[in-house]
Amino acid sequence: MAALGVGLLTLLPVCARRSPVLRPIHRLLSRPGTVAADVRREEQSSGSVETGSEDQTPKKRFSEVQKERREQAQRTVLIHCPSKISEKKFLKYLSQHGPIHNHFFYESFGLYAVVEFCQKESVASLQSVTRTPGLGTEAAIPFRSRCFSLKLRSPSGQPSEPARVPCNSQSPPSSKKLFELLCYAESIDDQLDTLLKASQLTEENTRLRYLTCSLIEDVAGAYFPDCAVRPFGSSVNSFGKLGCDLDMFLDLDEIGKFSAHKTSGNFLMEFQVKNVPSERIATQKILSVIGECLDQFGPGCVGVQKILNARCPLVRFSHQASGFQCDLTTNNRIALKSSELLYIYGALDSRVRALVFSVRCWARAHSLTSSIPGAWITNFSLTMMVIFFLQRRSPPILPTLDYLENLADAEDKCIIEGHNCTFIRDLNRIKPSENTETLELLLKEFFEYFGNFAFNKNSINIRQGREQNKPESSPLHIQNPFETSLNISKNVTQSQLQKFVDLARESAWILHQQDKDRPSPSGNQPWGLATLLLPSVTNSLSLAKKKRKKPASERIKNLLESIKSSGAEGPTDTNGKRTVSTQA
Ligand code: CTP
Ligand code: MG
Repeated sequence: MAALGVGLLTLLPVCARRSPVLRPIHRLLSRPGTVAADVRREEQSSGSVETGSEDQTPKKRFSEVQKERREQAQRTVLIHCPSKISEKKFLKYLSQHGPIHNHFFYESFGLYAVVEFCQKESVASLQSVTRTPGLGTEAAIPFRSRCFSLKLRSPSGQPSEPARVPCNSQSPPSSKKLFELLCYAESIDDQLDTLLKASQLTEENTRLRYLTCSLIEDVAGAYFPDCAVRPFGSSVNSFGKLGCDLDMFLDLDEIGKFSAHKTSGNFLMEFQVKNVPSERIATQKILSVIGECLDQFGPGCVGVQKILNARCPLVRFSHQASGFQCDLTTNNRIALKSSELLYIYGALDSRVRALVFSVRCWARAHSLTSSIPGAWITNFSLTMMVIFFLQRRSPPILPTLDYLENLADAEDKCIIEGHNCTFIRDLNRIKPSENTETLELLLKEFFEYFGNFAFNKNSINIRQGREQNKPESSPLHIQNPFETSLNISKNVTQSQLQKFVDLARESAWILHQQDKDRPSPSGNQPWGLATLLLPSVTNSLSLAKKKRKKPASERIKNLLESIKSSGAEGPTDTNGKRTVSTQA
């Protein structure tokens, strides 16, 4: 056994071994003397902190955030710890390898520590003193990873039983807890804000996501040196909810760039010119190899599925130590660009994320979305619908993509696979909206707008910010902002769309009714947003629906119309807020 500084600890690199499937249960660590102590997680989310959207500090570009996070992840290690350890000794031991910048603990079928060193060299120093575990009957496949397992050398020798370390939660609050929080909120605006704060990705969860990508990059890098594994989708676009999947892609562009400028010389690198009939087949082959590596050697990667015949081939797996469900694709630069665009939209106005989170949560509560692929609407599509709706307000809350493209300068120009992905990347140069509508009004009108949208003939298009004639006959048509010939909601069936429309109308109706007869906020009675998230409300409406002659959605549409016309003369509520939609 290696002689270790404090005489208590031995670190083992985690080799390719199977362990039980995870159930993430985590709590916050915030202790004096660490950077984490400065993190006021109620206010600091990965979205609001990094963009600076809550204050006047300059907002960071997406690429800057990605670069900083990636570099931070490369200085970080993941350590599986005994359930009870002395945090002080643990940190003292690790700091022999260099100063620690930040750390936190979480639970995920065991206790884990995420430790970020100030310097990358500390990771190598730590690796150099670890030993390979003796597995008895099993054999370990040696792989120099940054996942370690900490064994106490002589637990009984410790002077006193170490306390449980405080853990950071990586899960969203339970529905019960969320309802309580919502019921105690002071207004519907406050409810939307509360929901956002309770369910958005925390600073620690974001770190863990970048770290997981970095650990996968270590595996892929053994085969493709200089590759990068980059997160995209809701993990980075500021619309991620605790518990969402981790989308990542293997970026081989850097390798390409390395050789691209060398146009002369006698040598061609054999691996780069191995011919395959198409780009798609190359992608499938690369993912097949990486999928195999993750399955055979990837520490903590379980349930690896190679889904290579999908439109966008991918490898899906669970990363046990982090608890993330991961989807790995390759060269998915356009999706990274959509993530950047959403990040910009999310940072432009504080109402955007609050509204998107509520709509996503509402859709989930009523099983309009699902974690299983199928005919459902997706969170990505819902986000596009909210953005489109906010572009349609008067004055608009969000600019169109065409407008963002007009603001772009030469440096922003970006063409990927022939698709124009150009838009301004410096969000500080985009003028804020003059629209002052409340979240309550926006939520109500969102439901009303889409409860009455002509889905049969119109397409949703955030590039132009106005309805377009549908170019094809799918029930729901939402144009992909960059690959404009693609419909991002092609999978949605007519019956799923109808369910969405019915629920949107019912929700608009419930909010209008509550406007007239609002219960006073109290902890024991659901009201406002909490009512909308209760499946029982719409279940009871569905039961009532069966007894009615007209379909509920028609009836509610008529009711809304009548509320609208009766409010036409005096369209304000007691708070002076407009209560009736003026949306065309
Ligand atoms: N994407 C796309 N076209 C689609 C589906 C997805 O371009 N039809 C891209 C988007 O950039 C999206 C990303 O792939 O953000 C990841 O897709 P997905 O995981 O389905 O959506 P998320 O935005 O990550 O939302 P969720 O929280 O549900 O994972
Ligand atoms: Mg995702």
